[in-house]
Amino acid sequence: MEATPITTPRSSTQSIQNPPESVIEIWGGTPLSGHIPVSGAKNSALVVLGGALLCSQTCRIRNIPDLMDIGRMTSVLEALGLSVDRNGDTLDIDGSHVSHSKAPYDIVSKLRASFFVIGPLLARLGVARVPLPGGCAIGARPVELHIRGLQALGAHVHMDHGVVHAYVPGARGKLKGAKIYLDYPSVGATETLMMAATLAEGETVIENAAKEPEVVDLANFCRAMGAKIRGAGTSAITITGVPSLYATDYSIIPDRIEAGTYLVAGALTRSEITVGPVDPDHLAPLLSKLRETGSTVELEDGNNIRISPGERVVATDIQTLPYPGFPTDMQAQFMALLTLAEGNSMVTETVFENRLQHVAEFNRMGADIKVKGDSAIVRGVAQLSGAPVTGSDLRASAALAIAGLAATGKTTLYGLHHLDRGYEKFEEKLRNVGARLQRVPLSEADSAAQPTPSTVTDSQAVSAAN
Ligand code: UD1
Repeated sequence: MEATPITTPRSSTQSIQNPPESVIEIWGGTPLSGHIPVSGAKNSALVVLGGALLCSQTCRIRNIPDLMDIGRMTSVLEALGLSVDRNGDTLDIDGSHVSHSKAPYDIVSKLRASFFVIGPLLARLGVARVPLPGGCAIGARPVELHIRGLQALGAHVHMDHGVVHAYVPGARGKLKGAKIYLDYPSVGATETLMMAATLAEGETVIENAAKEPEVVDLANFCRAMGAKIRGAGTSAITITGVPSLYATDYSIIPDRIEAGTYLVAGALTRSEITVGPVDPDHLAPLLSKLRETGSTVELEDGNNIRISPGERVVATDIQTLPYPGFPTDMQAQFMALLTLAEGNSMVTETVFENRLQHVAEFNRMGADIKVKGDSAIVRGVAQLSGAPVTGSDLRASAALAIAGLAATGKTTLYGLHHLDRGYEKFEEKLRNVGARLQRVPLSEADSAAQPTPSTVTDSQAVSAAN
């Protein structure tokens, strides 16, 4: 089912809007060569946009990818009364007027990250009403860690008809610093509570905090606005509340998951490519696993990674874990690579339940994978063959697309509303390194002629994407 395009009153952000029912057709078997540029990190950008709510001046945020999810987050901010202007990859967010404390259901239900505005709203206004979130279909994804943390900071919280109502009692409406232990190092809960604590009275310590680079990016953004935060990137984050935050000019880190996806595409298609800019430290677990599978991975010019294929793909096991463990958001893409390994591999998903739905789709392409509980046993096969496939979530969609680049014949990828949530210019970036793929309306999918690198131009692709 296609997502309903979001329209914003001021159309500050150009969300990608698919033609109804479009698909991507991918012809595999062509090696890639060249450089794939990496956009700003989607998950950092989303939460930093939420963090801009904390500031009553205008913040400039750079390196924002043009994605459907970013358009949705921008719409949430606009619905709350902020004004957002987009110029290329830069957003100016004027937070001088926050006129509403209620986030709109139609957007929050489609974007889990928009729930995270509950922290800054409470900190700024002393009241927030946010519907329970939606997002990728990868398990239940509850928010009780966010809620319990906000309660520890003094908020009163109750649920009413699917909406979380939170307010800070007392005339001043100020949260109070507290010691909060997270039962699990949730990325979103750490971010929500860190933002809430920036304007609280006194000191907050978040123990067993998430250490993901996006948490550190948010902390750096808040610090650039004058927040007092120590320890981001470790399991104990200390925040000393300040009365107010001021305007800043901040640039988002590169997207480690987008970069990782393209590196795996290089390994899968047995191609030598470079990908960047990246912070190589953010990719350490993936780079280490790529080396284990036989690829050579080298850092060039400080922030580009060159991947060169080995003689063969060697089987290996992965287990997803909170950072700095192997990222759950790279699990599906890495599984695509393991389908072509010599030998058997085990993929264990520990972060989300129900995040192995892509297995059935890989098997449609000729892979040999069996699921047992939270694990998938991948028996390497010599070749994948193109097939019609549907991505069950954002990363599964990307994984199926890059598998299609390595398969024989044509793969048709359905369910593009997932892919467009998180990959900027996906087809264009891959086509620029020689991949053969194009977006076409579903009605034309079967009749479209097979493209060659010379017959698929960017202008054709753009018109298909619009
Ligand atoms: C973020 C990322 C997502 C990534 C995930 C893990 C964004 C916008 N999304 O999601 O791409 O896959 O981190 O790296 O940044 N949980 C609870 N209770 C809670 C909160 C979480 O049980 O209150 C559980 C979740 O159901 C899940 C696990 O904790 O099983 C991890 O979730 P969390 O780290 O919170 O991920 P998100 O912030 O939702």
